[in-house]
Amino acid sequence: MNDSLRVGIIGLGWAGTVHARTVKEMDGLSLAGVMDPSPERRASTVGAPAVATVEELLRLGVDYCVVAAPTRHHEDIGLQLAKVRVPALIEKPLAHDLRSATRLVDAFEEADVVSAVGHTERHSPAVREMRRLLTEEDFGPIYQITTRRQGPFPARIQDVGVVRDLAIHDIDLIRWLTGDSIHQVSANVGAVSGRGTEDLATVLCRLTHGGLATLDTNWVSPRKERQVTVYTERGCLVADALAGTVTHYLNGAHAHGNRPDGSFPGSSSGLVITYPAQGELPFAAEHRAMRDTLLGQMGPLVTLREGAAAVAVTEAILASARTGTPVTIDNP
Ligand SMILES: NC(=O)c1ccc[n+]([C@@H]2O[C@H](COP(=O)([O-])OP(=O)(O)OC[C@H]3O[C@@H](n4cnc5c(N)ncnc54)[C@H](O)[C@@H]3O)[C@@H](O)[C@H]2O)c1
Repeated sequence: MNDSLRVGIIGLGWAGTVHARTVKEMDGLSLAGVMDPSPERRASTVGAPAVATVEELLRLGVDYCVVAAPTRHHEDIGLQLAKVRVPALIEKPLAHDLRSATRLVDAFEEADVVSAVGHTERHSPAVREMRRLLTEEDFGPIYQITTRRQGPFPARIQDVGVVRDLAIHDIDLIRWLTGDSIHQVSANVGAVSGRGTEDLATVLCRLTHGGLATLDTNWVSPRKERQVTVYTERGCLVADALAGTVTHYLNGAHAHGNRPDGSFPGSSSGLVITYPAQGELPFAAEHRAMRDTLLGQMGPLVTLREGAAAVAVTEAILASARTGTPVTIDNP
């Protein structure tokens, strides 16, 4: 397509390579070029010019850039893009700390260009189907949400610990699935790899409107898990992002609520239904949303403000683990 949007990728590691492949496969997008300071990375074949600086990448002509460099570089690169009003899809976490994340929010709002954070897990077909059920069907109040995200050790991630790298996905999902923000956290973290940052985290959360959430995450397990469970008044839903399934545990016909006014209907075991969730892959959904938004049809982008809110929760988690006390988060 001659009139396709030209995309530049900054950082050609694991994430940047998936973005490059996704862009090349999507109608209406073309890969303008990639940027990486590493000559070895630039030598990897992606079928587009590979350059060593952001300035050179911008000279190739881009309609938007993906920031897929290590997290500690997101702020500098993002600010550079905002300054010249280039739209950006910035990988999660938006930044390594809240001050940097806030500077990015301010810069892109001032520049008034399209921007988004790569919270890809929102686009996982199973999670997306769970959200559809929660928003389109009547499940009543959400009582509790639990997340489990475990997996093998990612030696390449050197600049942040597991809370900022992995738990941030679940922090974002809790907010997106419940429509509620995390108000308070009590956390414990553990470090076993000798890398200097945390490798395991268990977090208890209270949501602003009273719901409860727990996050369990680590990157020291040969067993990979990506699971979200939501407990509601009208049954329980489980999204398994790895299996690509949603399971619905329905309440049975005979509930045992014991409020005299019937306001708590109770629950008993009913049917269990598991089905595959369909849909495009998360990175493709992100680029479709960028493309559509830039072409004037709002796509489901994760805003930089939402990305900064997730970073704020990671800071509260690490502060709680450090001090051994619950930490309250100032949600705007
Ligand atoms: N959304 C997701 O599911 C997802 C998955 C993986 C990684 N990520 C995020 O993507 C980012 C990169 O992670 P990764 O796993 O691809 O890491 P990686 O180590 O595989 O790749 C990072 C690349 O960035 C390059 N780089 C280093 N300094 C740079 C700079 N100043 N400018 C541009 N490039 C630079 C490195 O040479 C390397 O090629 C991180 O922020 C990570 O959290 C997101």
